[in-house]
Amino acid sequence: MNNSKTLIKLNNIKRTYKVGSESIHALDGVSTEIGENEYVAVMGHSGSGKSTMMNLLGCLDRATSGTYELDGKDTTKMSNSALAHARNEKIGFVFQSFELLPRLNALKNVELPLIYARNGWFMRHKKAKKALEQVGLGDRIGHRPNQLSGGEKQRVAIARALVNEPDILLADEPTGNLDSKTSKGILALFTELHNQGQTIIMVTHESDVACHAKRIIRMLDGKIISDLPVEQDDAYQYRLGGQRL
Ligand SMILES: Nc1ncnc2c1ncn2[C@@H]1O[C@H](COP(=O)(O)OP(=O)(O)OP(=O)(O)O)[C@@H](O)[C@H]1O
Ligand SMILES: [Mg+2]
Repeated sequence: MNNSKTLIKLNNIKRTYKVGSESIHALDGVSTEIGENEYVAVMGHSGSGKSTMMNLLGCLDRATSGTYELDGKDTTKMSNSALAHARNEKIGFVFQSFELLPRLNALKNVELPLIYARNGWFMRHKKAKKALEQVGLGDRIGHRPNQLSGGEKQRVAIARALVNEPDILLADEPTGNLDSKTSKGILALFTELHNQGQTIIMVTHESDVACHAKRIIRMLDGKIISDLPVEQDDAYQYRLGGQRL
């Protein structure tokens, strides 16, 4: 943790899924704080609760119990429409599978969140173009997703996540479907955004990817089992060992 303003405060968060007669404790008492301009990687085995936590942080889901304060406001007490509003205003989401609409070109895909935020046509166009330029795709705005490479598609998705100037960028395995060279480009972009002040929380399975963050949270069975500055995490030691850089 640094000394910046706290943006996220989770207090004993539990998320239980009921499947038939079984209860699955996807999150089992998670407490943590994340401040403005932090760059955090979340690691853990498959099924450890990473995506469940990201969905909660992104206000796409609600906890079964516990409290989640987003920028000082308790989201657990918000109505569904207030929660949707908070999501639109404060959160940008990037997924492993890009989730672009195939019929729309890059510009229209990036404009989508602005339609929900009730921006007029001119403003939408201007902001979407700027976001695409920010991710280095100013010359691809008319391309549809099938006319873009994997890395370019992910850049469009990042531009869409950034277009509302969210407080927090959430990325769930953003390089999971990309080759290592393309992944490096996306990670360089995240570092640049972080240097410009963007708060970033990113899920990854890979030590090499996690080492780009400043802090690593590790999860197991719905619990946080370690939370360290990157230099003190095993991932960093592993990387220093010179393997798979
Ligand atoms: N909608 C759901 N209904 C029931 N169980 C679910 C649901 N979503 C997730 N789970 C369960 O909750 C646990 C945590 O899932 P989650 O998707 O958060 O894992 P993860 O850490 O993101 O895994 P991965 O690395 O494979 O993406 C898993 O055991 C999963 O089977
Ligand atoms: Mg997941």
